Amino acid sequence: MTIPPRLIEKLKSSERIVVFTGAGISAESGVPTFRGTDGIWTKMKPEELASFDAFMRNTGLVWEWYKHRKKIMQTVQPNAGHYAIAAMEKIFKQVSVVTQNIDNLHRRAGTTTVFELHGNIERNYCIGCGKPYPNEKILQSDSIPRCESCKGLIRPDVVWFGEMLPQDEWNASIHAAEFADVMFVVGTSAVVYPAASIPQVAKRAGAYMVEINIEPTELTRFADETLLGKAGEILPKIVEACKRI
Ligand code: OAD
Repeated sequence: MTIPPRLIEKLKSSERIVVFTGAGISAESGVPTFRGTDGIWTKMKPEELASFDAFMRNTGLVWEWYKHRKKIMQTVQPNAGHYAIAAMEKIFKQVSVVTQNIDNLHRRAGTTTVFELHGNIERNYCIGCGKPYPNEKILQSDSIPRCESCKGLIRPDVVWFGEMLPQDEWNASIHAAEFADVMFVVGTSAVVYPAASIPQVAKRAGAYMVEINIEPTELTRFADETLLGKAGEILPKIVEACKRI
């Protein structure tokens, strides 16, 4: 895939870049996506695993699943797509990543400004007193984790269905989107709201929207460019092309 010259032209005059990412950016790191043929939600029911009701009803099962995912996340590494986004910081005045992912791979790749709309699987907190707990403590035992201060249940610091997004991260994402010159939308089916409205906010405020995905999505008809292919292959090419201008 060659990067369209008009996109390079557009990037030449751009200062503020926002990259909105979903599970597809981490697929090449070996993190499963949610939808599509091998997606997590084709094998498991979100309402049984990813809601506060499910957690209260079936705490053991939900914790078993999250401990399993936490262990997977400990073994995966950022891929060429994450590194290319981090490298954009050397080219543009401001680069913000707004991610729906909880895997922490953008930070691990070196991106400085990351807004996590759905939380972070490396963090946990007590639902009674709010005390934070690192993963190391949680993964030490197979039992349901309880707070050492108030004995409350500890939960993963991720957003479940029906829950509010973290307000600070949301406000910062909207602000970044409103001032974006270019909005990259990478590896997301863009069907989960309110997160999926971020690219639209940028577009309405005048940003040039570039989608990178292995297949067309709900957002494709709104995008100024859709680059079909793997994020880990396309993003490094964009960065290389930008370095030459
Ligand atoms: P999805 O699984 O819905 O979508 C993943 C997208 O990535 C699809 O559009 C794929 O075509 C694309 N994709 C797969 N591999 C790719 C690659 N190598 N390069 C580029 N694109 C690729 O994941 P999300 O859109 O992130 O929410 O899902 C949004 C939310 O739904 C998640 O944050 C999660 C889930 O339920 C919560 O847990 C709250």
